[in-house]
Amino acid sequence: MSDQTDVKVWSGRFSEPVSDLVKRYTASVFFDRRMALQDIRGSLAHAKMLARQKIIAATDLAAIERGMAQIAGEIERNEFAWNLDDEDVHLNIEKRLTALVGDAGKRLHTGRSRNDQVATDIRLWLRDTVDAIDTLLKAYQAALLDMAAAHAETPLPGFTHLQVAQPVTFGHHLLAYFEMARRDRERLRDARRRINRLPLGAAALAGTTYPIDRAFVAQELGFDGVCENSLDAVSDRDFAIEFCATASLIMVHVSRFAEELVLWMSPRVGFIDLADRFCTGSSIMPQKKNPDVPELARGKTGRVFGHLMGLLTLMKGQPLAYNKDNQEDKEPLFDTADTVIDTLRIFAELVPGIVVKPEAMRAALKQGFATATDLADYLVKKGLPFRDAHEAVARAVRAAETKGCELPELTLAELQAFSPLIADDVFAVLTVAGSLAARNHVGGTAPDQVRAAIARARAAL
Ligand code: ARG
Repeated sequence: MSDQTDVKVWSGRFSEPVSDLVKRYTASVFFDRRMALQDIRGSLAHAKMLARQKIIAATDLAAIERGMAQIAGEIERNEFAWNLDDEDVHLNIEKRLTALVGDAGKRLHTGRSRNDQVATDIRLWLRDTVDAIDTLLKAYQAALLDMAAAHAETPLPGFTHLQVAQPVTFGHHLLAYFEMARRDRERLRDARRRINRLPLGAAALAGTTYPIDRAFVAQELGFDGVCENSLDAVSDRDFAIEFCATASLIMVHVSRFAEELVLWMSPRVGFIDLADRFCTGSSIMPQKKNPDVPELARGKTGRVFGHLMGLLTLMKGQPLAYNKDNQEDKEPLFDTADTVIDTLRIFAELVPGIVVKPEAMRAALKQGFATATDLADYLVKKGLPFRDAHEAVARAVRAAETKGCELPELTLAELQAFSPLIADDVFAVLTVAGSLAARNHVGGTAPDQVRAAIARARAAL
């Protein structure tokens, strides 16, 4: 309960204190203190501008800088006494500042509101977070490239509908995930441009009557420019939603890879093994080694989608300008960032720990007539229309299936029964190596192309 010694910043207007429940319900300091250092950075830039514009005295600025340096130290050393009575990170810091430096602390909030202050803090925090995620995506990409380089020639079945389709190389397969991460980074970079604009100066909603210099503050804080409209500046959180959408796609991509790892590690497939440090056992089945890490990455994708949906719903239908609803933006945003950061850190470490089993991949290729398309292409090159070639090969596959063998195991005479165009040069076409090498164009799976793609990717990283 508030008493007379605990006077709120807006207390003059109120005749009774809020209950403990309401205090807890409306407070955000439990979670928004995560932005404390961004809050201080923003305040210092604001104070510097106020002094330059002669709105506060140089001595006030010096006192504010001294006080903030001490507060930053207290926060970093975990000595700062966070107080629920002061609602949020902004009021906690301002109150401490005033306790330390007196009236200069009370002058800091001139020409500013918590509405433009919080919008600024989130943008500063998110900008750093986006940069950290970009670095992690890059590390994940580098790990994928190293593994792809080691397996530029290792064949495995490529699947469609999870049925054996055509041979590809494992390196080529990994490069698909590299490309997804490349686009994820592009999206982050694009979102960053819209994050990196300064709301300060919008004040509560309409701007301020003081002769402020917003461009100076923007420059001090490394923003690319200012938010053009004060109402928009304090109220919209579309930049946070965009970030969560980008994060969702990152998780979509990671979850696809995670699912393949789980599948590949199943003894029924056996293409890979994961290092023990990414797996756990079972409390009842002694033989088990479970791919928990990829499974959890797959599972955590759901919570990131949930946060995106939560933020979209939070913003939907909000009238201009700031509404307290917006205080609910932080927890989903923080959890999205934490989830993506942990997942990417783990995946950058997990990829080098993948033990590849080329024999199992090769054995799987022998089970699905993976070079049937190559046989059709062979007939086309000898003059048969593609649809007729398709039909001839389909009959050959059926014959091999009945005989219980693979296409290259049929005799030349048997094959010629399906088309007289088939000669003994057909067997080179039916090998996996021949099939791979034939897909020799940009974006194809031929080992030479995979190596070239890796070289281009390394240069781009
Ligand atoms: N804690 C608030 C938030 O996170 C700060 C802004 C509050 N502004 C206000 N007028 N109540 O959104």
